[in-house]
Amino acid sequence: MARRPQKTVLITGTSSGIGRASALALAEAGYRVYAGVRRDSDAQSVASLHNAISSLMLDVTKPGDIAAARATIETGCGAAGLYALINNAGHNYTAPFECTDMAKARALMETNFFGLCALTQSVLPALRQGAIAHRRRAKIVNIGSIGSLIGVPWEPYYHASKFALIGISESLRHEVMKQRISVSVVCPGGIKTPFISKSGAESAAVADRLSPAHRHLYAKGLSRFERLVRAVDQNGSPPEAVAKAILGLLAASHPPFRKIVGTDAWTMASLRWLLPRPVFHTLIRSIFAP
Ligand SMILES: NC(=O)c1ccc[n+]([C@@H]2O[C@H](COP(=O)([O-])OP(=O)(O)OC[C@H]3O[C@@H](n4cnc5c(N)ncnc54)[C@H](OP(=O)(O)O)[C@@H]3O)[C@@H](O)[C@H]2O)c1
Repeated sequence: MARRPQKTVLITGTSSGIGRASALALAEAGYRVYAGVRRDSDAQSVASLHNAISSLMLDVTKPGDIAAARATIETGCGAAGLYALINNAGHNYTAPFECTDMAKARALMETNFFGLCALTQSVLPALRQGAIAHRRRAKIVNIGSIGSLIGVPWEPYYHASKFALIGISESLRHEVMKQRISVSVVCPGGIKTPFISKSGAESAAVADRLSPAHRHLYAKGLSRFERLVRAVDQNGSPPEAVAKAILGLLAASHPPFRKIVGTDAWTMASLRWLLPRPVFHTLIRSIFAP
């Protein structure tokens, strides 16, 4: 019997954190990995992790990068197609809604939402080919957040981007199910990655720049938020926990739509489902906006 071709995975945002840990875990599990980065130094660093990893210059907000990535995937995978796309690239933006810099909010949506959509749209033909070649559902895995299910104060546009990701993923899942492509969203809680230190530093910087009127309204909440974010550096799950969840989704014949990762995320999601909404919202405000 002819051997099945090696399965290829494209993952974005692999310079650090969840993306880097997942690229390595995927390669160690036997996948061939195209790892998206934005800098030459990161390209060398991620490719040096494992000989099954090839780096790819891929800023998801740049149509030229997306077209080049598609061409590389189609040439590199040929008839074997692409087995999985992991949309991991993302960043945060902390600021009270009233103090939002709209250019920053739009830039966030370009990466966390529109970039993800544009890349997915571009590689759907390669995923369809992957499903045929491997006689198995091809996979799209979008890295959401517990913030895709629960909105907390001080990063409203981050939550908007991650809630939007649930909507697009659910809709797309229905559209492509008959094409033997599954769509799942991973919803991690706090994960110890550079994302956390960047978010903590950003909240502190935003608090420093508040006008006197806004300081009166928002400084206390932002300072609480900064402390909570920094606590993830001690208590958060390792990025390998998300990598493990991704591996599980890629191995499953019928992957679930949503995969929650981390005890903190499970606790928050359970409280959200069990408590009456007003009680849950009071709890959220007591934690995040004293
Ligand atoms: N850490 C957490 O607690 C947590 C919790 C829930 C969900 N998440 C999600 O997990 C994902 C990965 O985050 P992380 O925690 O691993 O943080 P991270 O270490 O900061 O990694 C983010 C990655 O995204 C890349 N990226 C940012 N903008 C990009 C763009 N326009 N195009 C391509 N790549 C871009 C970054 O590349 P550069 O180095 O070039 O900027 C980096 O490789 C994000 O979607 C985040 O929202 C994180």
